[in-house]
Amino acid sequence: MAVLVTGGAGYIGSHMVFGLVDRGEKVVALDNLSTGNRGLVAESADFIEGDAGDRELVCRLVAEHAIDAIIHFAGSIIVPESVEQPLAYYANNTVVARNLIEAAVRSGVRNFIFSSTATVYAGESDKLLSEDLPAGPISPYGRSKLMTEWMLEDSARAYDFRYVALRYFNVAGADPKGRTGQSSPRATHLIKRACQVALGRVPHLDVFGRDYPTPDGTGVRDYIHVSDLVAAHALALGYLRDGGAAGVMNCGYGRGSSVREVIAAMERVTGRTLPVKESPRRAGDPPWLIADSRLIRATLNWRPAHDDLDNIVRSALAWESKLNSP
Ligand code: UD1
Repeated sequence: MAVLVTGGAGYIGSHMVFGLVDRGEKVVALDNLSTGNRGLVAESADFIEGDAGDRELVCRLVAEHAIDAIIHFAGSIIVPESVEQPLAYYANNTVVARNLIEAAVRSGVRNFIFSSTATVYAGESDKLLSEDLPAGPISPYGRSKLMTEWMLEDSARAYDFRYVALRYFNVAGADPKGRTGQSSPRATHLIKRACQVALGRVPHLDVFGRDYPTPDGTGVRDYIHVSDLVAAHALALGYLRDGGAAGVMNCGYGRGSSVREVIAAMERVTGRTLPVKESPRRAGDPPWLIADSRLIRATLNWRPAHDDLDNIVRSALAWESKLNSP
């Protein structure tokens, strides 16, 4: 048995590949290297350069490597970019996922784990978001992912196929062993940008919007450590292999931090003031996204081990300081 990890050379995918090989799994990492980095893939995994939506390729890999599960990370992830280029997001997220699901069904892979997102929720209030709330994505990115959840739901009804869609909240931090981390110099994530600023590689951090209906006027997110996210996937894999029912689960801690609180955490960790600039709101950004995480804790017995904003920031900074200056 082997696990196919699409987007295996990307930020989260490369952590997943290490997490799986650490657990003794055979792994095939598939990545078209559009944003991924070959050097981040664990040496003991098989690496294939190719597209997750290439049905013939995926069917061949399933047969050659006896793949019994697919974890699908590959995709585009930047909310404001999706507002400017919606069709690119529907192509790269929705269409690719459709073809990958078809390849899974056609080649008899019954276990599928999908990277969904908290942005399927509208995020209008500070209420914890539970999976049974009506979805209401406000960006093409969120819609492109929600459509994939629907394709999975319909496919699980129609075929011999089960899935877990994990709705990630804001993933940050890096492998505690220092083997991989967020490596794209063009990444837009708040904690990544804050690290670049703290290291003097970017002159200041933009604070996008200070008039949100939140306590300090900046956007609130539920930041989770990438290692806890990888652990959730490993549990979901075991759950599906044991015959667990298909479903959608939030993956967040259930605690929100504002942009200003992230800046304060970075200042505590470095002992220095972070240069910031007040900037207008970014297109497509909801004010609040905080998980109700009861379902994943109860169903998968997920117990996060890194639930501490300062440690998440410290971990991201340790990785960033290992990267060469751009
Ligand atoms: C992130 C993920 C998305 C995921 C979602 C789940 C990325 C690129 N996007 O989106 O894939 O599905 O979480 O919730 O990882 N901000 C600033 N200054 C900056 C950058 C961001 O003020 O330089 C603010 C944003 O306006 C927002 C918050 O920080 O309020 C988080 O932004 P960001 O890290 O870009 O993530 P999301 O857009 O929430």
